[in-house]
Amino acid sequence: MIISRRHLVIGAAAVVSASAAKTQKLVATSAQDLGPFYPIIRPPDHDADLTRIAGRSGTAVGRPINVIGRIVDVKGNPISNAQIDLWQCNAAGRYAHPGDNANPAALDPNFQGFARLASDRDGQFKFRSVKPKDYDTPIGRRTPHIHFAIDGRAERLVTQMYFPGEPLNDIDFLLKNASPRESVIAEAIDPLSGDPDAMAFRWTVVLGVG
Ligand SMILES: [Fe+2]
Repeated sequence: MIISRRHLVIGAAAVVSASAAKTQKLVATSAQDLGPFYPIIRPPDHDADLTRIAGRSGTAVGRPINVIGRIVDVKGNPISNAQIDLWQCNAAGRYAHPGDNANPAALDPNFQGFARLASDRDGQFKFRSVKPKDYDTPIGRRTPHIHFAIDGRAERLVTQMYFPGEPLNDIDFLLKNASPRESVIAEAIDPLSGDPDAMAFRWTVVLGVG
C-alpha cells in the first residue's frame, strides 16, 4: 500500500485534533439570578418527586416532566455528591412563597415546589415535576424555567434551567443575559420508559471551578 503525502497530512491532522479534543475545555454553565422565591422554610418533603407530597393522596396539577441532569467540571469529569436545590412555580404560574401572595394564580396543595437532591457518582441527578408556567413580573413576563442552586466541590452556581422551543424564550429578560444562552436550555428527549406520559429533558451543568 502506498501512503501518499496527502494521507500523511490528513493523518497528522486527525492526531492533532484528537489531542486537542482531549484538552478542550467545556464551556461553563451561565449563572442566573437567584430570584425572590427561594423557600424561606424548606418543606419537610423535598425529595425528587415534586408531583406528590408525603402524607397527601393527590398529585400535582399539570403536565408531568422528568429531568435528567448531570454535573461535570470543564474537563467533563463528573461531580459527585453535589447538593442541588431546585424550586419552581406550579403549573398555574404560582410560587408557594409569601412573596408571591399577590399572584392571582392558585396554589396547588399537592405540588412540592422545592427539592434538595445530590448528584450520584456519575454526577447525575433526576427529578419528576410538572412543567412550570410562564408568569408576569413587574419588569416583564418570565418564560417557563426552574431555579437551581448547586453546590459543587468548591463552587456554588445559582442558575435557571429553561425549556427548548418556548415562544417566550426570545423575550425573557433574564434568559437574554445568559452566556452562553444554550448552556441554560435543556434538551428535549424521548419520554422515559416506564413514564411515557411525562415529557423528558436532559441538561448538563458545567461548573467552571468544580
Ligand atoms: Fe422564577
